[in-house]
Amino acid sequence: MRMEIRIRDAGVESIKTDLLVLPVAEKKLQEAPLRALDRHLKGQLGQRIQSSKFTGAEGTSLLYSTAGTLPARHILLVGLGREQDVDHDGWRQVSARSRREASAIGAQDIAMFFAPNKDAEESAGAAVEGALLASYQFTRYRSNSKPPVELRTLTLFRRGLRRTAALEKAIDTAQQTADGVFLARDLVNEPPSVATARFLGEQAERLCRGRGLSVEVWGKKKIEAMKLAGLLAVNRGSQEEPRFIVMRYRPARKPRKRVALVGKGITFDSGGLSLKPPKSMETMKLDMAGGAAIIAAMSRLPQLRPDIEVTGYVPTTDNLPGANAQKPGDVIRYLNGKTIEVLNTDAEGRLILADALALAARQKPDYMINLATLTGACMVALGNGVGGLFSNNQDLADRVLRCSREAGEKLWRLPLVKEYREMIKSNVADMKNIGGAHGGAITAALILQEFVADVPWAHLDIAGPAFAESDQPICPKGGTGFGVRTLLRFLLTL
Ligand code: BES
Ligand code: MN
Ligand code: ZN
Repeated sequence: MRMEIRIRDAGVESIKTDLLVLPVAEKKLQEAPLRALDRHLKGQLGQRIQSSKFTGAEGTSLLYSTAGTLPARHILLVGLGREQDVDHDGWRQVSARSRREASAIGAQDIAMFFAPNKDAEESAGAAVEGALLASYQFTRYRSNSKPPVELRTLTLFRRGLRRTAALEKAIDTAQQTADGVFLARDLVNEPPSVATARFLGEQAERLCRGRGLSVEVWGKKKIEAMKLAGLLAVNRGSQEEPRFIVMRYRPARKPRKRVALVGKGITFDSGGLSLKPPKSMETMKLDMAGGAAIIAAMSRLPQLRPDIEVTGYVPTTDNLPGANAQKPGDVIRYLNGKTIEVLNTDAEGRLILADALALAARQKPDYMINLATLTGACMVALGNGVGGLFSNNQDLADRVLRCSREAGEKLWRLPLVKEYREMIKSNVADMKNIGGAHGGAITAALILQEFVADVPWAHLDIAGPAFAESDQPICPKGGTGFGVRTLLRFLLTL
C-alpha cells in the first residue's frame, strides 16, 4: 500500500499523530515551535534536552514520549545541522531518519513540522522522498521475515501551510522518483542466476509501458546483424544469450532536447578468463546497476512527462569463462571502425559500452549520459559513497553535478587526461582494453570517449555508490538505485 502524504495547517500543540517530528537547526533550541511544545509539556522537554547531548547538530536526535499530555504520542527532535547549510538533502536525511525511528517504535503515522527557510516545494519533495526511500526492503528470499511496520501517512504541517499546485507536483515527482529507485534496487538485489540478460529484457518490457514509451529487446541474431561486436565478444564465455535493450520515450509535445542514456548491464562479472578472486566476486551481481538505473528511470517517464525525447540503451550479458570465452590477445572490431585488443577479460564493461555509445552517437543526441559500475580504481579514488563523473562538455558536466547534488547522490568530476591515451596504446590494434598500474578510472573513461564522437557526453562511474556494503539511512545493504534520482532530475530540469 502506498504511503499517503498530507499537508496540514496546524500547530505543534494540536497535531494528532504517532510521531511528531521537529527538525531543529544547530543551536536553535529557542525557536517558537520547540518553546510551544515545551510549554505544553510543562518544561519537561526542555529538561530532557538539557540532560541530553542534543544540540541540533546534523545526525543527532532525541525521542520523547508525551504520555498523553499532547495529541502527539511521541516527539522526535532531529538535528538539521547549521541553519545556513541546510539544503534539499538535509530534508531528505531528516525524514529518512524519522522513518527509521518510526519503524523502531512501531509508529504508523508521522507528522513533520515543515518550515524550510527556502525552496519550500523542493524541500517538501526531498522530505517525502527521504521517508519513502528509507522504507525499502528486499525480503523476497527470506522465509522468516516479519512484515515491516508500514508507514500509513506522512503529514507535513505548520500554521498557514497550504496545499499548492507546485507543492502537489513536487510531492508527486518525489513519489515517482522513489518508485524508480525501488525498481532499480530490486533489479540489482535479485540473484544473478535469476536476473539474466533475458530477465532484464523481460523486465524492461514489463516496466517500460505507457504513453510515449516503447521497448525493443534485441536477441543474439539481431545483435549480430547490428554488429555489436563487444557485446558478442563478452557473451562468448556464457551459456545465456545476450540482449540489447532499447527504450524510447517520445513526449506528446515537440521535444526541446534529445537525450541518450546508456547503462552497463553485466548481470554477473566473474572476470571471464581473467578470473576474479572469490571475495571480489561476492557482490558482482551489482554489475548491471547502471543498466538497472536506466531501465528504472525510463519507466517513470510516462508519469513524469518531460518534454525531452529520451532513448535508453542497455547492452546486457554475464561475463563468464566458458569454453568458448574470449581470450586475452583477441581483437574486437567495432561498428565505428575502431579496434580494441582485449588483454584482460575483466575489463569487460568498456567493451560492451563501446558498442552502445557508438550506436547511440549515430543519432546525434543533444546529450549522452552513461552509467556504469566500471572500475575498482574509481572506488579507490572516491570511496563507496561517491561516483566519478567524466565529461567532454563543461555545460553538461555542470548540469549533471548540480542535479546530483540536489538529488543527494554524490558525484565528483575526474579529468579525461589526454596524455594518458599513451597508456591504452596497443601493439596490434587501435587500443587495448587496460591501461597501466595507476589512473584506471581515467583510462577506462578514455576508452569510452573513443566511441562518443563529438556528442556532449557524461560518463558516471558508479562502481562505489551502486551498492551499499552496510545499511545506510536511506538504503539498506545492497543495491542503492544510484543514478535514478540524478537522471530524472536532469531530464526534468533540462
Ligand atoms: N565490474 C568491475 C568493476 C567493479 C569493481 C565494480 C568492484 C564494482 C566493484 C569491472 O568490470 C572490472 O572488473 N574492472 C577491473 C578493470 C581492470 C581489469 C582494468 C577493475 O576495476 O579491477
Ligand atoms: Mn570486470
Ligand atoms: Zn564489470
